[in-house]
Amino acid sequence: MHDTAALASPQHKSLVSHSGNSRYAKLHRRFPSVDHLRRQARRRVPYFAFEYADGGAGSDDAGIKRNWAALDAVELVPRYGVMPSLPACDIELFGRRYAAPIGIAPMGGPSIVWPGADMYLARAAQRSRIPYVLSTVGGATIERIAEIAADVFWFQLYRFARNDHAIGFDLTARAQAAGCRTLVLTLDVPVRTTRPREATHGLAGAFEINPAIIMQIARAPGWIVSLCKNGIPRFANLRDYVGGGATLAELLGFVRREMGGAFTWEEVGRYRERWKGTMVVKGILHPQDAEIAVSLGVDGLIVSNHGGRQIEALPAPIDALPAIVRQVGNRATVMMDSGVRSGSDVVRACALGAATTFAGKAFLWGLGALGEEGPGHVIDLLIDETQAALGQLGAHTVTATRSLSVRHAAAL
Ligand SMILES: Cc1cc2nc3c(=O)[nH]c(=O)nc-3n(C[C@H](O)[C@H](O)[C@H](O)COP(=O)(O)O)c2cc1C
Repeated sequence: MHDTAALASPQHKSLVSHSGNSRYAKLHRRFPSVDHLRRQARRRVPYFAFEYADGGAGSDDAGIKRNWAALDAVELVPRYGVMPSLPACDIELFGRRYAAPIGIAPMGGPSIVWPGADMYLARAAQRSRIPYVLSTVGGATIERIAEIAADVFWFQLYRFARNDHAIGFDLTARAQAAGCRTLVLTLDVPVRTTRPREATHGLAGAFEINPAIIMQIARAPGWIVSLCKNGIPRFANLRDYVGGGATLAELLGFVRREMGGAFTWEEVGRYRERWKGTMVVKGILHPQDAEIAVSLGVDGLIVSNHGGRQIEALPAPIDALPAIVRQVGNRATVMMDSGVRSGSDVVRACALGAATTFAGKAFLWGLGALGEEGPGHVIDLLIDETQAALGQLGAHTVTATRSLSVRHAAAL
């Protein structure tokens, strides 16, 4: 799909290109990296909510650590004496122009971390012109996000098989009617797994408010203010299917009962036939799965291990990326997430063939640390760092990263 009307020039206030006393410069002094935001988020949101956002599969978050270590291990070799001006970070994806090779990954329940999260994420994405992917189990409706983030709104779908996919088909019809152009089918949650850090707070079963949870909430006044403003987090898109007055427990029960299992390739094909816009599958780690997806007419793939949240034994997407790019890169747009925390990570992925990256936890840390202002600050940080990394490496554009020398011993 090509939509040249949307190729507006992205607005971005760069620290590299703008010095001075802007709000960004002030925030940058206190929180000069995504990791600084993570530390602040740990202090500022109720502990169970931080554990929900931050915890991974396996003992000691082994999968998350593998993602970080694999990205850290990629070395980019600079070339000097070639760059006349500031590098450009903007990219084109599926015929639309975005400010940078960065997007907000779909996340269920981000309002647990900061009530109102989906709206704040969507607003920041629209302002900065980066993709925002609303999760099936996000906290705002498809229709609301389409209003807030008309130019950058993508919709992610999980599987609802009952009644011949009636709910899934209805959700995608709603997304299409609301003007969403990109559908993302998530393949990498074939089973529900348990994250130890969630389990210890009762988040793996039926969530119950107990004295410990109340104490954690009481210590998070900013979070309480946002809760009063935005209401209790709910699965906004599923309410119609459960019944208008459904309680949180009923909604959770519905999700556990009705949602789940991996999409089969036959089902992916059926969605492909119905969906008129760009279709992306998320969670690919094997080149042959990428091949099958492309043979079904899928336009893009997100190489992902769900941010290390499913099982810790999965390879890091950055290591799986080159083989998938070799397999289908000339026929589909290959993107990547899992572990991205800095502009250097963004450029590493682009140098290994990703058309763009997405981040999940980084945005939740931003929300936890700064509330409404957090997502915008994460975007600003990642764009500035990306621009600095491009400049350091002698790449004028994101596409030019493909010609860099990359040392990547762990590639699959
Ligand atoms: C709290 C949380 C909830 C998530 N929920 C979803 C979801 O509803 N749908 C989905 O496709 N991926 C979901 N993911 C995975 C993200 O889309 C993305 O793949 C992952 O966060 C990327 O890794 P990163 O967190 O290291 O950036 C979730 C991730 C987190 C942290």
